[in-house]
Amino acid sequence: MQDRPQHLTLRRPDDWHLHLRYGPMLGAVLGWSARTFGRAIIMPNLTPPVTDSAAATAYKSRIMAAMPEGSRFQPLMTCYLTDRTDPDDLEAGFRNGTFVAAKLYPAGATTNSSHGVSRIEAIDAPLHRMQAIGMPLLIHGEVVDPAIDIFDRERAFIDRELIPLRRRFPDLKVVMEHITTEDAADYLWADTTGRLAATITPQHLLINRNHILVGGIRPHMYCLPVAKRERHRRALCRAATSGDARFFLGTDSAPHALHTKENACGCAGIFNAPSAMAAYATAFDEAGALDRLEAFASLNGPAFYGFSPNEDTIELERGAPELPDTVAVGDGAEAVVVFKGPGSLTWREVGSAAC
Ligand code: NCD
Ligand code: ZN
Ligand code: ZN
Repeated sequence: MQDRPQHLTLRRPDDWHLHLRYGPMLGAVLGWSARTFGRAIIMPNLTPPVTDSAAATAYKSRIMAAMPEGSRFQPLMTCYLTDRTDPDDLEAGFRNGTFVAAKLYPAGATTNSSHGVSRIEAIDAPLHRMQAIGMPLLIHGEVVDPAIDIFDRERAFIDRELIPLRRRFPDLKVVMEHITTEDAADYLWADTTGRLAATITPQHLLINRNHILVGGIRPHMYCLPVAKRERHRRALCRAATSGDARFFLGTDSAPHALHTKENACGCAGIFNAPSAMAAYATAFDEAGALDRLEAFASLNGPAFYGFSPNEDTIELERGAPELPDTVAVGDGAEAVVVFKGPGSLTWREVGSAAC
């Protein structure tokens, strides 16, 4: 198989969906994203959440203060929408570069979403403003209706919430974050507006729900939206590896301390920053689509957000990555488990020494 590539040079990728947390966890995880990615959309679901431009500026300073020496990694801040979001603050923050986008969490849908939006009508004023100024809306797309099965919550969100929302705000730029279903992929494929995109995580390209539940319950494979059937994983792989501009990289790297995952009520979230590019490359290789990895990882995201792609590059090579099992947090009393996929990863980053 002489034409199987052994080596890849990509424009430096960006991460369009990342949780960095704060405090000791921020210090533990930031370097892993900063060594690989040029920029990242920083999720605002802290406790308390980042709900205005002053809080975003303060959070960005904390990230910059924790940045490894010499890093050029750029955090792109987002506003957590609530029933009380002030459209003037949102607009001012977008215009002066404090915010790149705003995030819609249905109240109670995921980690730290209790301050989220109760009914989408409650954020009509900010959405009108965002539509007018071209500010993207990023969505955790799951309904919270207890009557809806957890495996159906993404599809139900599209039907019940997203379709009506986009009918009311046809010019709004929307990113469906971390899609997990064939239904979401099909909804994107059918869209012709150019104003709809989706991020796809490495775990949703590699695992299905069996990897969470067969042979024992595996809390480190659990995130939200939860991984679905194999049919859905395949649809996500087709979308990500298509090269289509609507699909781009967002790791949803979401660290939680080990004891909060290995728990009777374990937190949702997978920490994949150390392995993300190895995992994406493994999935693209399995699909015979390594030539489309750069579009997904480094070009489609900036194009949607209106940025230039990064000018520098990263190198990947075929081979098993060397990854720690865990990353220590703070003085080492806590640790966070690193996602390594369900089987072996077959690509690694070159020259990105462990942090
Ligand atoms: C994320 C987190 O831990 O903040 N968890 C997750 O399972 N994905 C929240 C989110 O992105 O929904
Ligand atoms: Zn989410
Ligand atoms: Zn997330």
